[in-house]
Parts: sequence; structure tokens; C-alpha cells
Amino acid sequence: MTSIVPSARLVGLLQGRGPVLVLTGAGVSQESGIATFRDASGIWEGIDPMQVATPRAFAADPEFVWRFYDARRAQAATVEPNPAHHAVAAIEATGRTFLLATQNVDGLHERAGSRSLVRLHGSLWRLRCTRCGDEHEDLRPKLAPLPPHCAACGGMLRPGVVWFEEPLPMIEFARAERAAREAELVFVVGTSSLVYPAASLQTVGVSSGGYVVEINPVRTPFSDDASEHLSGPAGVVLPALLKAAGIPMDRAA
Ligand code: APR
Repeated sequence: MTSIVPSARLVGLLQGRGPVLVLTGAGVSQESGIATFRDASGIWEGIDPMQVATPRAFAADPEFVWRFYDARRAQAATVEPNPAHHAVAAIEATGRTFLLATQNVDGLHERAGSRSLVRLHGSLWRLRCTRCGDEHEDLRPKLAPLPPHCAACGGMLRPGVVWFEEPLPMIEFARAERAAREAELVFVVGTSSLVYPAASLQTVGVSSGGYVVEINPVRTPFSDDASEHLSGPAGVVLPALLKAAGIPMDRAA
């Protein structure tokens, strides 16, 4: 069922105390001004992901790959979380059993106050040494020179993100999968549900008996399996849903 108005059942579940899992993709950052990947004028329209988001691309031209990620870091540093990010943090703040599993690497959920989260695809703000494996957070909006090197061993650093052809972090994915099995209510927000294994989590939610709500302006390959599809931008739909459920948002605007 596609609607712009949440069902009474959804509002009731959101007012309840059952476990909630929120799955997000690039669409949740779109209203902050960060392009998604596959929409019109999306990131992958302008550049071939195989040229910048695979281990082979990095091995072939680390400086080219680093220029792509350095530009994304610089942009993410200039934008702010939007009401969708704040709404997700507000659901967590109710104190119910909650997990956010995000495919996003921009750090906006964390800046909006989300704490109970797993980063399925890593983070733009983490760097990992290709020689000694040291991984650390570096919040500088611009890195220079590119590619950066490890202070400990001098090895070349890589972005701490998961590239195509790489496995997801096992512990984080297992935690998200368990949450999908146990959740009474699952939100699938701003993702095309095209990239696996992250996109399998919503199906685990459905098969485990959860009420799975997709929030997206358009339908996706998952939409037919969703319990409910709320058609609209997350930064509008989520705050309206929280208002209907009487859940306060400290930073709606
Ligand atoms: N609110 C909610 N959804 C939105 C909004 C919005 N304001 N704007 C766009 N969307 C939806 C689009 O309709 C689309 O379904 O967000 C989705 C974005 O899809 P993608 O661009 O494919 O992004 P995502 O699903 O996160 O991609 C998954 O692919 O390239 C890899 O690693 C990358 O994590 C990424 C993964």
C-alpha cells in the first residue's frame, strides 16, 4: 500500500515499545544536499563506480580514488543533518530497543545524535592503513597531500569505506541481521534496495514477522514486499510520522 499518510497500525506500533530497526540509504541525506547514487544527476551518473569504488581502482590509481573521496568528505563537512536524521535520532531517544543500520558513510546520522548504529559500508571519516591495518578517525575536511600516509608506519592510507567486491564488516552486519529478525517495526528509508547484502535486511524483517515500512518518494524493487510504503521525502515523512505518534523531535528544522 502506497500512501502519504501513515496507517493507524503504524502510528500505534511507533507509540509502542517494541524493538525498532531503521535501515537507511543515500536518500536520507538527499535533503541535506548530498546527491544520492542512482537518482537523476546522482553520483554514479557522473562517474563510473568501478573507477573509484573498488580495490582494483584504488590499486591502479590511488590518487584519483582519493580525490573522489576527499571531495565527498569536503562536501559532507559543509552540510548539516536534515529532519530525517533528527527523526531517526528521536526514535532512538525514546529508549526502546533500537538499532540504526546505515549504508551511508557521510556521518550525518552521528552528527544528528544517533548512537545505536552500525555502519554497513564504513565511513568517509575513517582512514585505514594498507600496510599495518591501523584504522582511525580523521575529521579534517580536506586531506593533503593525497594519498595520505600512515603516521605509524608510512604506509598508504585508504578510505575506511566498503567498496564493491569487498565484504561488509561481519560483526556489524550480523548485529543488523539479528535486529531485523527481532524487530517489531522496521523502517527502510531512502534506499533503492539494489545493493546486497545490505538490501537483504528488509526481507529478513518481513520474513521474521516485522512490520516493514518503506519511506521513499518512488517505489523500489522492495516496495511490493513492504508492509507499508510512505511515498515522500524522508525529511517530511518521518517528522510527520513522529508528530502523529507524539514522539518529540528536538531539532525538526
Ligand atoms: N527521501 C527518501 N528517499 C529518497 C529521497 C528523499 N529525500 N531522495 C531520494 N530518495 C531515494 C531514491 O528514490 C532512491 O530509491 O533514495 C534512494 C537512493 O538510492 P541509491 O542512490 O541507490 O542509494 P543507496 O540505496 O544508498 O545505494 C546503496 O550503493 O553505491 C553503493 O555504497 C553505495 O551505500 C550505497 C549503496
